[in-house]
Formats: sequence, C-alpha cells, structure tokens
Amino acid sequence: MQVISEVALLRATVKAWRQAGLTVAFVPTMGNLHQGHFKLVDEAKSRADKVIVSIFVNPMQFGANEDLAKYPRTLEADCAGLISHGADAVFTPTPELMYPHGLEAQTAVEVPKIGDQHCGASRPGHFRGVATIVAKLFNLVQPDIALFGKKDYQQLAVIRQMTADLSFDIRIIGIDTERAADGLALSSRNGYLTPEQRAVAPQIYQQLRWLQQQITQGYQDFRLLEQQAAAALTQAGFRPDYLHICDRQTLTLATSHDKPLVILLAAYLGNTRLIDNLEV
Ligand code: PAF
Repeated sequence: MQVISEVALLRATVKAWRQAGLTVAFVPTMGNLHQGHFKLVDEAKSRADKVIVSIFVNPMQFGANEDLAKYPRTLEADCAGLISHGADAVFTPTPELMYPHGLEAQTAVEVPKIGDQHCGASRPGHFRGVATIVAKLFNLVQPDIALFGKKDYQQLAVIRQMTADLSFDIRIIGIDTERAADGLALSSRNGYLTPEQRAVAPQIYQQLRWLQQQITQGYQDFRLLEQQAAAALTQAGFRPDYLHICDRQTLTLATSHDKPLVILLAAYLGNTRLIDNLEV
C-alpha cells in the first residue's frame, strides 16, 4: 500500500491508474479505523479496481469546545488494518497542506437546509467543515465512487446534496452501520466511554428499535414517541441532544403521512456525544 502525503504524488498515482483504464473508489476517514471503516474498504474493493483511503482529522469540522486535540490518532495501526483489507493507497495530508492560508481564509462550502437541522443545529459550522474538506478531497482524488457510512446519516445526505449541487461526477454510496454484538454502532468516539458507560450505551439502539417497532405497528403521534424515547434515555443516564423521526429524503420532522422514515438521534453519555439512526 502506498502512503501518500503530497498532492503531486497523489495526482500522479490516480492519473496512472486512470491511464491504465482502472476505476477508483475513495473512502474518506479521520483515522482511528475500526470494523465500520474496514467494511467501507471491503465494499470499495468489490466495486472498483483501486481503493484509496484518506486519513485526515479535519480541524474545520470541530467546534471550539469539541474534541479536536484529543481525537485519537493511530496512523500506524490504521495503515496495518488498511493493508490487511487490501487498500491500494492512503492519503495522509497535514492541516497545513489542506488549509495553507489557515481556516479563517479558507473558501468554504455551505449546504443549507439539509445541513442546518439536527447535528447542524447543535454543532454550528460542522457540516460546513465536512462539505469543504470532502469537496477538496474529491477534487484531489477525482474518484469514480466514494463510500460513506450510514451511521453519519445526515453527513451522507449533506455530501449527496453537495456532490449534486457542485456537479461532481462521483457516485456516492452509503453503507449500512456496523454494530457491536449488543447493538452499539461502531464509532471512534466509543473509545472515550468508561466501562460503566459502555454497558449503558447500547440503550440508544434499543430505543431506536422500540421506536421503529411502534411506527411499524401504526403508532402515529411521532412527537409523543420522540418524547417517550428521550425520557427513557434520560432515565438511563443519557443527556439527549435530539431525537427526531424524519422524512428520509428531506430529513425534516415527519408526520404520519410521510414515508419512508428515518429516526435520527444524538445523546451525550458523560462528555461523549454518540449519534445513531435507524431507517423505518
Ligand atoms: O465521517 C468522517 O470521518 C468525516 O466527517 C469525513 C467524511 C472523513 C470528513 O472529514
């Protein structure tokens, strides 16, 4: 596997693949790779000739009081995992390479509406940072397809919209969430949980499943359902940020007339903010 940290080498590598008539799949990540990321790499391999992964902890998508400094950086283990999953190259730029004029002077990509609600409301500027870095990476790598986990459901919707609005010729593929045996969605942030919190964390998935069941059985007062599930999580020791039953296309709050649906949820356990979702 080629480890690339310069733009010229990145472009030359992808150009050589293209000249050989090969297709290219791209998996953008922030590193600290787990089974969820490796599933994206495996899927990428099954859909394209060459797979390139990026590892970049993107400062532009972290708020002032968020965990940028302590975000886990595990490059050596990440590369070992990527080699064992057959990735062809990994791009590991520095913040200076991606933002040579600093964050304040960086041209930014805004994805209004779909990016303003849920996580966008709780983390102002987050999706601006995500859309900007993903657009930059798309321009650098110029892949045929790019794969993202459905665990970051709103992020996936923001990236789909950005890709369409900016006319990138890239097919966006969403991959189902990888879960631990007890249902907890795999996430780099799970590593922040204490053993006691880790034992409680699967209740997020249990509440999502309960909501899914209620809706499937025909229960129609979605706002009451949201309140009941949020109350159950609070009772279990969480601090729910939001819990919304949404229209799957627009991600706006759904009524019983809307279909298909997705339940989006973010909740703090101690200082750790966990997100999850379930399609209905
Ligand atoms: O999901 C992530 O890991 C990040 O938000 C992404 C898409 C790599 C952009 O920094």
